[in-house]
Amino acid sequence: MTNDGTARKILVLNGPNLNMLGTREQDVYGTETLDAIMTDLARHAHKHGATISTHQSNHEGELVDHLHRARSTVDGVVFNPGAFTHYSIALRDAISAIDIPVVETHLSNVHAREEFRHRSVLAAVCLGVVAGFGRHSYFVALDGLLRHLNNA
Ligand code: DQA
Repeated sequence: MTNDGTARKILVLNGPNLNMLGTREQDVYGTETLDAIMTDLARHAHKHGATISTHQSNHEGELVDHLHRARSTVDGVVFNPGAFTHYSIALRDAISAIDIPVVETHLSNVHAREEFRHRSVLAAVCLGVVAGFGRHSYFVALDGLLRHLNNA
C-alpha cells in the first residue's frame, strides 16, 4: 500500500521465449505456463496490497517502450529480460532512463549455467537480482520490490 492507502502498481515484464514456458526446456524451466505463474502472482500481489499488470514480448524495442511507459504508470517493475539480460545495452539504457526501481528476475540460476549467462549488462542499473528459484523467483522479486517501496 502507498501512504494514502491505494494499492501499489507493479509491471511484470517478460522478455523473449518466456511465452514458451511449459513446453520449453522443461528440465531447466519447469512445466508451468507463464500465464499460470502470472495468475498466481496477481493473487499474491493482491494479498500484499498491490496490483500487477503483465506483459511478454519477444521484441527488444517493445520491451524498451514498456519500460518507458512504466515510468508514469507504475511504482516498479519485475523484469525477466530472458537472453537480452546478457547483451542488451538498449534495455540497460531504458532502465537507467526511468526513475523507478526494476528487479532483474530469472527462473534459473544463470550463474550455474553456461558462461555467457553469467554476465548481466542490466544488473548494475537494477535495484536487485533474483535468480534460481524457478516460479518462486517472481514472488521473491515482487516481495522484495514491495518491501523496498514501502520501506518495510
Ligand atoms: C532466463 C535466463 C536467460 O539466460 C535465458 O536466456 C532465458 C530465461 C531465466 O528466467 O532463467 O530466456 O531469463
